[in-house]
Amino acid sequence: MAAPATDRRAQQDAHPSGDERFALLDKALKRARFEQDQLVELLHTAQEVFGHLSDDVLIYLARQLRLPPSRVLGVASFYHLFTFEPPGDHICTVCMGTACYVKGAEDVVRETSEAFDVPAGETTDDGRLTLWTARCVGSCGLAPVVVFDGTVLAKQTPQDLIAHVRELLAAEDAAAEEEAG
Ligand code: FES
Repeated sequence: MAAPATDRRAQQDAHPSGDERFALLDKALKRARFEQDQLVELLHTAQEVFGHLSDDVLIYLARQLRLPPSRVLGVASFYHLFTFEPPGDHICTVCMGTACYVKGAEDVVRETSEAFDVPAGETTDDGRLTLWTARCVGSCGLAPVVVFDGTVLAKQTPQDLIAHVRELLAAEDAAAEEEAG
């Protein structure tokens, strides 16, 4: 029996790099039946799998969905949830939703940005810390909220957050020194 059209497409166009993450994306494409109107969902999956949306990934999605790359890039750029640069080793996302904002989230962002010399939305030069902002992350009772490497930190002052990051980086430095002997 002949393979369904979607299976044939995935087989024919599998990513030549052999990067297994593309196989995960292929599964999502298959689940979405290569429907063009599933683009946003697929961009989410791609970002989860790769951590960011590189040109390579965007072009791959465009080809698999038979869409012009400019359209895929346009849609990805429209949503602030998507990022095109690889994040740092640690991701610090400060919630800037209303509840967090009125409780001082802006100071948390500004002072953290100054302490680690990284503008909001970017990654430090050494690639160790990415500072992002987000809209409400759904924990308003804990405002101001920071999501650090996937963990929700409640009622964060700038001092709390800066101390947390410094401690973590110092512990990593100490571990690396110990390993180096
Ligand atoms: S506004 Fe920050 S968690 Fe809702």
